[in-house]
Amino acid sequence: MSFDSTDEPTIHSAMSPTYDPDEDEKEASLRPRYLSEFQGQERIKENLLIFIKAARERGEALDHLFLMGPPGLGKTTLALVIASEMGADFKPTSAPAIEKPKDLAGILTNLRPGGVLFIDEIHRLKPAIEEMLYIAMEDFELDWVIGQGPAARTVRIPIPPFTLVGATTKAGMVSAPLSSRFGISLRLDYYAPEELKSVIRRSSHILDIKIEDDAVGLLAGTSRGTPRIANRLLRRMRDFAQVKGAGAITMDIVHEGLGRLEVDFLGLERLDREILKAVIMRFGGGPVGAETLAVSVSESVESLEDYYEPYLIQVGMLARTPRGRVATPAAYRHLGMEQPNEDGRLQF
Ligand SMILES: Nc1ncnc2c1ncn2[C@@H]1O[C@H](COP(=O)(O)OP(=O)(O)O)[C@@H](O)[C@H]1O
Ligand SMILES: [Mg+2]
Repeated sequence: MSFDSTDEPTIHSAMSPTYDPDEDEKEASLRPRYLSEFQGQERIKENLLIFIKAARERGEALDHLFLMGPPGLGKTTLALVIASEMGADFKPTSAPAIEKPKDLAGILTNLRPGGVLFIDEIHRLKPAIEEMLYIAMEDFELDWVIGQGPAARTVRIPIPPFTLVGATTKAGMVSAPLSSRFGISLRLDYYAPEELKSVIRRSSHILDIKIEDDAVGLLAGTSRGTPRIANRLLRRMRDFAQVKGAGAITMDIVHEGLGRLEVDFLGLERLDREILKAVIMRFGGGPVGAETLAVSVSESVESLEDYYEPYLIQVGMLARTPRGRVATPAAYRHLGMEQPNEDGRLQF
């Protein structure tokens, strides 16, 4: 099974110190397969367990499921977990990969009954594909056009019952007709430090890495509430421990390692700080539009909006207003800058 096409290699900036182009391959061994291995998100897991149990008892496909949340929180993982728990086929793809109706028809007619079709970045579906999907989701049928010109006619082809799991980082960009066709909607939120500690402990066990307890805590606090980042940082710290230390990951190793990666105690990366500095120094603290801000830090609007901003907002450093992004007092404090006076001029 390959996940290459379903993860978001474009979302993480190549400038980011925690970016790793071979990420997906290395992640494969760490990816939970069953709910019992999926750390944290207790409410979501409890509900899913009930829905899965009920569907299995009825011998039906699980209801279609809509997953929302920032990158790296476990959307792809949950889709796979659901397929394993249902004992069903798993077919991962992403909206940009479904170009023509025949691509979708090919996938749907090849699934065994109850199979899970995972469509990542579902906000990027083409309208024609989306409409085809409505009928497939509701009636387990495909509208298929036969012939050409005046002789063309539409036939309905039955397909095996399936579960669509749609994932997006941009819930607001999914059309109402599509989102209303999902029976279950789940929003993944940033993980609490305790939950990230469990992720790190589980991964260090699988990777056979020795790590001290307080080092686990420090890493959890700098992982931006995101399991994918916790796993990345853990692997980087393993490298530092191997080359610089005695093999085990200690507090000293983590302190030095984070310093080298330019990750601060809140988990902010260099580019996070550049974004805040840009808002403050080039745009007078804001408001500044996303496009302008992205250009000024040489980043794509996509990664600004999907990856950097949500966490800066979460830690209270950035606010989104109708007129644009604004730096909060916490941002000034974090960067060791003074907020401007009444007359609007910055003091240093
Ligand atoms: N709840 C979790 N418990 C343990 N590991 C997790 C969890 N959620 C995500 N991960 C790890 O983080 C990585 C990224 O998760 P992924 O499902 O690809 O995120 P998303 O699809 O939301 O971007 C996975 O490969 C997995 O190893
Ligand atoms: Mg994913």
